[in-house]
Amino acid sequence: MRYLFLSGSLRKNSFNTKLLHLAAQHLHCAHSDIANLNELSIPLYSGDIEAVGIPEGVQKLAKCIEQAQALIIASPEYNYSISGVLKNAIDWISRVRPMPFRKKPILLLAASMGPIAGIRGLWQTRIPLEGLGNYVYPDMFSLGIAHEALNEQEFVNADDQKRFTSMLDGFTEFAKKLA
Ligand SMILES: Cc1cc2nc3c(=O)[nH]c(=O)nc-3n(C[C@H](O)[C@H](O)[C@H](O)COP(=O)(O)O)c2cc1C
Repeated sequence: MRYLFLSGSLRKNSFNTKLLHLAAQHLHCAHSDIANLNELSIPLYSGDIEAVGIPEGVQKLAKCIEQAQALIIASPEYNYSISGVLKNAIDWISRVRPMPFRKKPILLLAASMGPIAGIRGLWQTRIPLEGLGNYVYPDMFSLGIAHEALNEQEFVNADDQKRFTSMLDGFTEFAKKLA
């Protein structure tokens, strides 16, 4: 199974990006499969930029999405909703032809420093992804108080680790059936 991992946070020490590294490790994927939105330098969507041409970073991300059989997206909740960084990337990708965000199995993860764990943001993140025609996995993983729940290399709590790996395994089965 070829996975692409995408973070909705640009922060160097992002807890969401950390979740993706843990997921890549569990699924025996290369850490290079984690798309780096910082390096892609995707501009804010503008029809004027699009009229000149789809930016190179968007084209690169579109290619990675096209080649992936499954996507795992980890994103913070910002003000009860989707990360603007992630929404902007989705909006750009939706303008690429052929549009690669179709019929992709997608798992959503969130890490948050708050107790609600980013789940409200994930419900909103489902909307554009499902609207574009992807198969967003019904279960979503959210981790609250992430600054205490994660240390440098792993989950502090064995129950969180178990919940995380069993969701990744369930998603893998789902993605294999769709492949
Ligand atoms: C603009 C902004 C809005 C935020 N809104 C929320 C929120 O609605 N719910 C929440 O749980 N955390 C919220 N947070 C805190 C984030 O959970 C926290 O910054 C988290 O570490 C971001 O993810 P990251 O570590 O992957 O960068 C917000 C943070 C920022 C900067």
